[in-house]
Amino acid sequence: MRLVSIADAEVGNSIAKPIYVSKLSMLINKGVSLTENLIKKLIAADIRHVYIEDEISKGIVLEPMISDEIKLQAFSIMKSIYESQKIKEARETEPVRESTIRELKDLVDEIITEIYSKNDQRYYSTELMGAEMYHYNHSVEVMILSLLIGRKMGLDREKLLKLGMGAILADVGKSRVPDDVLNKKGKLEAHEFDEVKRHVDYSYAILKDLVGLSSLSRQIVLLHHEKLDGTGYPNGFTGDQIPMLVRIATVCDIFSAIVSDRTYNNRISVDTALEILRSATPVKLDQDVFTSLLQVIDVYPPGTLVELSNKQVGIVVKTNTSSPTRPILRVVNLENNKPQEELDLMQELTLFIKKVLPKLP
Ligand SMILES: [Fe+2]
Repeated sequence: MRLVSIADAEVGNSIAKPIYVSKLSMLINKGVSLTENLIKKLIAADIRHVYIEDEISKGIVLEPMISDEIKLQAFSIMKSIYESQKIKEARETEPVRESTIRELKDLVDEIITEIYSKNDQRYYSTELMGAEMYHYNHSVEVMILSLLIGRKMGLDREKLLKLGMGAILADVGKSRVPDDVLNKKGKLEAHEFDEVKRHVDYSYAILKDLVGLSSLSRQIVLLHHEKLDGTGYPNGFTGDQIPMLVRIATVCDIFSAIVSDRTYNNRISVDTALEILRSATPVKLDQDVFTSLLQVIDVYPPGTLVELSNKQVGIVVKTNTSSPTRPILRVVNLENNKPQEELDLMQELTLFIKKVLPKLP
């Protein structure tokens, strides 16, 4: 399977991963062949990308570190928190329940166990498709990435749990930012950006009285947009004023926002996102956190289309765990877009991946 933009999906392509919609219910199941009508339905539901299985991606499997089932559980808790905090006319918001926080904690704990059990695996995001799930997806991704980096940096389990809880809850205040500002496609006006920035205060206000949430988690919520050089918000803190756990969540927040940026038709690839983060390190972002991020994520996950240094095009079949920039590829014949032989970049050391391609040339 491979991920394609909806604009590049074709009639007859087979859906390789279920597509969910707003109520976390399934819109299209795996194995269904795309028809013109279904493509229209997906576009109407604002779904931008789908996993398909076509001739060149046949048999390529994605084995996500964290299963869709666990992610859906996390989405459903986050959705209930978001919706309870939305300011609606003539309705007061209710405080988040301690029982909801306990439920979320159990889930984060379960994810920590998953991460421990998959020690040598690198992480790649296989997102659940559904436009309205964007914000939940982001929160869950930031939590998972933070846990992976935290573990790489040697945090104990107790600290990991606090880190994960802060990371997943950091953006709940976005529920109080008007939808037209939050989901605006183009560039934000200054006053709109100010409104978005306010989500940090809203998040803190929503969570501050919860006894089940540690002060470390709350600190992550409050400071996750601070930058080391003082250019962040809301306080403009610098260097030592920003604790390590916060720095981890900040890097993950930016990384996840870049790779899932919905303003572009083609997704920003992981390697491009890493270059953007690299340019902000160590001035704005923590060097050790960035180095750990490089060690835990898979830059070219299975299904990625890449161009090689000799201009050949291939699709990643399998990652070489010891050398993630040198995966096993299936070469694509560009005359007829048919798959050709496999190429192990660990054996072909004169070749290297030049760039990720959003679609076949
Ligand atoms: Fe945020």
